[in-house]
Amino acid sequence: MENLFDNISYLPQEDINTRTESLIGFESKYDRAYSNLKLFLDPDAIQDWSKKHHGTILPIVKQLEEKYSLIILEGDAGTGKTVSAEGIADRMARDMKKEGRFIKLSTRVRGEGLHGQMSNLVNDAFEKLSTEAGKKRLAFLLIDEADAIATTRGTSQMHQEEKAAVNTLIQKIDEIRKLKGRAIVFMSTNRLHYLDEAIIRRAAVVLSFERPNKEERIELFQKSLAGLDLSPEDLNQLADLTGQKDSNPVGYSFSDLRLKVLPEALAKAYPQYPLGMEHILDAIKTIPPSPEIT
Ligand SMILES: Nc1ncnc2c1ncn2[C@@H]1O[C@H](COP(=O)(O)OP(=O)(O)OP(=O)(O)O)[C@@H](O)[C@H]1O
Ligand SMILES: [Mg+2]
Repeated sequence: MENLFDNISYLPQEDINTRTESLIGFESKYDRAYSNLKLFLDPDAIQDWSKKHHGTILPIVKQLEEKYSLIILEGDAGTGKTVSAEGIADRMARDMKKEGRFIKLSTRVRGEGLHGQMSNLVNDAFEKLSTEAGKKRLAFLLIDEADAIATTRGTSQMHQEEKAAVNTLIQKIDEIRKLKGRAIVFMSTNRLHYLDEAIIRRAAVVLSFERPNKEERIELFQKSLAGLDLSPEDLNQLADLTGQKDSNPVGYSFSDLRLKVLPEALAKAYPQYPLGMEHILDAIKTIPPSPEIT
């Protein structure tokens, strides 16, 4: 069971912050997540508030303890679920003025098809989560590509062991409520409809991720190519070429653009030429958008 976790990062972290700032559309997602969770991230503070303003702890404040600190991130491949989970965790640690630990459950281990060990894996991950959580420390667990582990129990071809793993997962999500807002679980999935309903129902918030629309593609090219002196017409052309067209049933994802098209353009220019529109246009022709996951 070594390599159980890809890594544990310490938050807040400057690198993560810088990366988060480069994400298009992050703020509105963060606001939704934070406004949903802030009520039970600091139970003492809200109880003090209640006593101060109402002379008592209101029933509704007490009932917050029943909520689950679970955030689901769903959407197509390459739309920013994984980077946003880390970004949200980092920003929450900052906003709460606390240290944070970010644990990522390895997808690699699960990829090896260790069916018999799913439940153990889930147990170990939550064990780690509760050890890391503390009064001054928020602990985050990302179960990336969670549909691999939390597939709906109704699926007939599902193995007993997989069902057991989903049940364990549900039980663990229930248990972390005891940690009173010190631990937060993220689950990401390409296929929300595969996730067990009992899990979806527990989510404090479900964030949906999509491929960039035209404005967002313009913003991405503008940010990534700052210093190139592209005209508004150039940016518009790039955004048009990377959107949905007859030849492309879907537009390019964020990751298609940032991790494939633009590096390809750079490779065409480097080292002989300065990077120019012709290289980017050429790269767009060479690289098609990744297929949509349905
Ligand atoms: N909102 C965004 N703005 C700018 N770039 C983005 C955004 N979202 C994603 N990217 C780029 O796409 C890359 C991949 O993002 P990420 O790995 O988070 O996608 P994902 O949704 O988790 O995909 P998958 O479902 O394949 O795991 C990021 O490293 C980043 O370069
Ligand atoms: Mg991902």
